[in-house]
Amino acid sequence: MSALYLYPVWLRLWHWLNALLFLVSLVTGISMHFALGWLIPFDVAVPVHNTSGILLTVSWAAFLLGNLVGGNGKHYLIDLRRLPMDLFRQVRYYVYGIFVNEPHPFHVSAEHKLNALQTLSYVGVMYLLMPLLIVSGWAFLFSAQLPETLFGVGTIWLVAMAHLLLAWMMLLFLVVHVYIITTGETPTTNLKAMVTGWHREGARAEARGARGGAADSR
Ligand code: HEM
Repeated sequence: MSALYLYPVWLRLWHWLNALLFLVSLVTGISMHFALGWLIPFDVAVPVHNTSGILLTVSWAAFLLGNLVGGNGKHYLIDLRRLPMDLFRQVRYYVYGIFVNEPHPFHVSAEHKLNALQTLSYVGVMYLLMPLLIVSGWAFLFSAQLPETLFGVGTIWLVAMAHLLLAWMMLLFLVVHVYIITTGETPTTNLKAMVTGWHREGARAEARGARGGAADSR
């Protein structure tokens, strides 16, 4: 059994606060978009959505700062030479290997806690989708100050479509994210890691070791 401390306190606090704020923004956003007044009255959904959006912006800035000064940023560096092969191995595992009980192609270490697919998706979400979602949200908030048209199209319509599209993409990420985190050594290995900070693995490998099998990770 091995244990690695991979998720420092600041990262866990950021992650769960970010998840909560994102879910609040999602539910209030969906309620406003589909005019579901029975779910959340419109005059409640608007200020709650605006507040969670502002707090999400602050939490995103804290994540960037934490990654910059807290050492976690190294896990977000993509090795372009290795990426195609690592990605192929990882995708192959998720669409085939996992169903035939193949050992995981990636081994978690203090230097590399994220596999290629996680790195790519987290970089895409935190460094591309999230900032765009935030910018479109702020543009929405201050739409009265924007020019009426952009490239001959209504600016508010453009901002609304961008915000909506990005929100759907983030929801898609969340669904895949929550599924993928259950594919660790046990369905709760990764969840426990994000709660306690410690990534523990090896219980299954130990049992298999007794039968001469290889250790697998996630
Ligand atoms: C209720 C919903 C969520 C659950 C249960 C959840 C769960 C987890 C777990 C268990 C991990 C650690 C395993 C791993 O490294 O893959 C993780 C990591 C991560 N999650 Fe989530 N998550 C949720 C929502 C979100 C949302 C909404 C975002 C972004 C908008 C997000 C972004 C991330 C990122 C960037 C990491 C990697 C952090 C790092 O180690 O640097 N998660 N999540």
